[in-house]
Amino acid sequence: MGELDGQVAMITGGASGIGRATAVRFAAEGATVAVLDRDGEAAARVAQEVGGSAHAVDVRDGEALAAALRAVADATGRFDVLFNNAGTGDLRPLHTVDDKLWHRLIDVNLTGTFNGMRAAVPLMLETGHGAIVNNASVSALTPTRNEAAYSAAKAGVIALTKSGALEYGPSIRVNCVAPGHVRTPLTAVWEQFPEVFDPVARAIPLGRIGHADEVAEVVLFLASARASYVTGQTIVVDGGISLPQAGTDAALTQLLEKFSGA
Ligand SMILES: NC(=O)c1ccc[n+]([C@@H]2O[C@H](COP(=O)([O-])OP(=O)(O)OC[C@H]3O[C@@H](n4cnc5c(N)ncnc54)[C@H](O)[C@@H]3O)[C@@H](O)[C@H]2O)c1
Repeated sequence: MGELDGQVAMITGGASGIGRATAVRFAAEGATVAVLDRDGEAAARVAQEVGGSAHAVDVRDGEALAAALRAVADATGRFDVLFNNAGTGDLRPLHTVDDKLWHRLIDVNLTGTFNGMRAAVPLMLETGHGAIVNNASVSALTPTRNEAAYSAAKAGVIALTKSGALEYGPSIRVNCVAPGHVRTPLTAVWEQFPEVFDPVARAIPLGRIGHADEVAEVVLFLASARASYVTGQTIVVDGGISLPQAGTDAALTQLLEKFSGA
């Protein structure tokens, strides 16, 4: 028996990386998965892979996202889990972030999560239950240089998680994951430069960067009944990189400088 048997789960940014891995994991546990992504073709490929549905939607568009969630809930007759995962990053010094980039990072990462929660809550309250998992980042808790806007947006995601947990318990649990370095298309570019990337990976206490399915495993836990008494929490999934004495700072600074303003 699967942990999400008979449940309906919706995943933003589900077409790639951590979102795709979570779609695969959820489906393996019996969920019907709706893959929402601004890249409709990629979403369709993942939906086919997991036997779910695909929906081309940009999380910045609150109305479109709400309509997509409502359409899935109407078609399936239920809505149990939302993984607010869509996100994007950039590396450059704070004073070089122009208005357009600031708004893109805040709008996708923070407003997109807000839009997802705002749309999901009424649907979940209709049925009296639900689990929301948001995707932040270790950068929200331990910002590194040159990702001020991203870190600020992700810190906001953790605050939204706590607010949601306070406002919608006991019906809805709201939790968050904070991944460290995970191998996905978002981070693949770093590995083109092993001279700065490999020292970072070696310095991580667990000795390597993470895999998307290792984050998906924690998302599944938070979404499932196994986490029935867990709400408002952020679970760091980073191999220990953000521990104060991990010793990754020097290597990480070199890596981040390589890409800053690129
Ligand atoms: N990979 C990492 O090391 C890492 C670390 C910490 C946090 N995260 C977070 O994990 C989440 C997933 O990242 P990933 O590494 O899997 O990246 P990814 O680029 O592989 O996947 C992100 C997906 O989100 C979609 N997306 C982007 N903007 C969107 C928008 N406006 N509307 C709808 N869909 C949109 C993309 O099309 C893509 O399919 C992000 O929120 C990211 O910030 C990733």
